[in-house]
Amino acid sequence: MANPYYDSGGQRAIKVNALFDRIARRYDRVNDWQSLGLHRLWKRALLAEARVRPGDAFLDLCCGTGDIALGLARQGAQVTGLDFSEPMLEVARRRCAAAGIPGVSWVRGDTQHTPFPDGAFDGATIGYGLRNLADWPAGLAEMIRVLRPGGRLLILDFGKPSNRLWRTIYFAYLRWLVPHLGRWFCGDADAYAYILESLDHYPAQAGVTLELERRGCRNLRLRNFLGGAMSLHYAETA
Ligand SMILES: C[S@@+](CC[C@H](N)C(=O)[O-])C[C@H]1O[C@@H](n2cnc3c(N)ncnc32)[C@H](O)[C@@H]1O
Repeated sequence: MANPYYDSGGQRAIKVNALFDRIARRYDRVNDWQSLGLHRLWKRALLAEARVRPGDAFLDLCCGTGDIALGLARQGAQVTGLDFSEPMLEVARRRCAAAGIPGVSWVRGDTQHTPFPDGAFDGATIGYGLRNLADWPAGLAEMIRVLRPGGRLLILDFGKPSNRLWRTIYFAYLRWLVPHLGRWFCGDADAYAYILESLDHYPAQAGVTLELERRGCRNLRLRNFLGGAMSLHYAETA
């Protein structure tokens, strides 16, 4: 049966937006459960790779509840977090205020068409976001557009393990266990079955590397975690 949150056509963004509006309040808790807290380590790896210098301007796209944006700000960056889900942004704003973190502005908008001028940022990050876009190469192009020459670009997302046995086990986990966690914690199994559905339609490590090369990015680095179940791309704009 088709996943109600996945659409291969013009309804993609509307459905993804509805998904995150629905799960926003419980998103952080489910993240911890489904990754056994490991998503925090992977985000920490992204933050380390970002090599923030105090005062750097960073844009965190698909910022959700703000883990990455807040991490960048804690390192001294001036951060803009952008997301199209108002309920996700509400959680981010609340967390930011509760932690008393200065230097973050939260913007409601579409990652594929941001309101920022060319070359406005020293760094751009996207965590578990690119896979969700209706047109992920367009999202990547937008990241590159808003970066200055030599700007840093970091992409963290689910990956596709190259080892066939491990890939089968990992996909079985996404297919069978993760939707149950979604049902138990959010009352919505489909919202979490969507992860595998979206990953099926996303070229992951290989495709993103090719696209970064095709767009002239330099100093590409790919780090795989858990045998490629998660991946972190680093690149610099030309
Ligand atoms: C899986 S969450 C990731 C949140 C956060 N980056 C993290 O790592 O925890 C994906 C986020 O992307 C947002 N999103 C998806 N497509 C988007 C788009 N086209 N424009 C803006 N935000 C989008 C969703 O609203 C959601 O908050």
